Amino acid sequence: MTAATAIAHTNFALAKYWGKKPLPGNYPAVPSLSVTLEGMSTRTTVRFDADLQADQVTLNGALATGDVHGRVVTLLDRVRALAGRSTRASVESANDFPTASGLASSASGFAALALAAVHAMPGLDLSIERVSDLARQSSASAARSLFGGFVELPAGEGISGARPIAPPDHLDLHVLVCVVTEGSKDVGSTSGMQKTSLTSPYYPAWLDAAPAIFAAMKLALEARDWEKLGDLTERSALAMHAAAMAAGLVYVRGVTLDLFAAVRRLRQEGLLAYFTADAGPHVKVLVRSADLARAKGALAQVPGVLRIIETRPGGGAVIVQ
Ligand code: ADP
Ligand code: DP6
Ligand code: CO
Repeated sequence: MTAATAIAHTNFALAKYWGKKPLPGNYPAVPSLSVTLEGMSTRTTVRFDADLQADQVTLNGALATGDVHGRVVTLLDRVRALAGRSTRASVESANDFPTASGLASSASGFAALALAAVHAMPGLDLSIERVSDLARQSSASAARSLFGGFVELPAGEGISGARPIAPPDHLDLHVLVCVVTEGSKDVGSTSGMQKTSLTSPYYPAWLDAAPAIFAAMKLALEARDWEKLGDLTERSALAMHAAAMAAGLVYVRGVTLDLFAAVRRLRQEGLLAYFTADAGPHVKVLVRSADLARAKGALAQVPGVLRIIETRPGGGAVIVQ
């Protein structure tokens, strides 16, 4: 038996990935730019065991079946194919934040799984770029969680992992993750973006706008232009939600919009806070050290906010055992 345990942190996109290229392989249709967080993590142990007849997956203490099990097996099959082996595995994984809720559990989940599986497989020595590419095939946002700090994922083809572009301390950035439900979403990201690409009248406009937002954001990040970065972050999120909404997908709730308004009120009061939201109702707020306490106090007052996770940019995925 061979085993490895990995920890990966979630990441969220400042310039969003939404939509896939019309080819097999799970390639994003647009480039994205993200930040990997210090808190909010997945811990995954993979054990390859010649005595097992089938892969066995436990997620958050419960035996996984159906699609959750299937997505893990598909990644393990790719690792087995690369190593030329057929040994089955047991996988034990847990997220320390809500799963399938719009807080990017698929990102930390498949980053930790890819890294642990590659390390647990005897004789397989893949570069971190290849591990990122492996994670991307299971969930494109996961490619970014292999790396720490600010990370880009191209809309590329072929072997196409993510790439770090700035370290965690590049900006004086704090993130306030406003959690508004502990439950999971009705429509997962994969089917949400498929529905958007097939039926949203605004999908072509999104494909047109996203690369320009990404390119401008990369420059703003390099220049440490906080206001520009914040403005582009809000634009990317709103454009993504508009495209999804026009396909009938409403991930936002009343409290999501109240949080957007609260952040804009903070700006009127002189705080440089900016919001984003992924495929779920939670809101992530970007603030600087000087504004952290005031922003947190104001956001906690918004009715419907259950709790606020205070976090910062952090490091990439690691093997811990
Ligand atoms: P999220 O916003 O949480 O990323 P997604 O719809 O993108 O939501 O992905 C949720 C799916 O990711 C889950 O249904 C499950 O299949 C998978 N997933 C989440 N966490 C893990 C994990 N720790 N290990 C393996 N798969 C996971
Ligand atoms: C809104 O990476 O979860 O969080 O590749 O189908 O697994 P799949 O989708 P996923 O989509 C993430 C979408 C997003 C934006 C982002 O993280 O860039
Ligand atoms: Co996801």
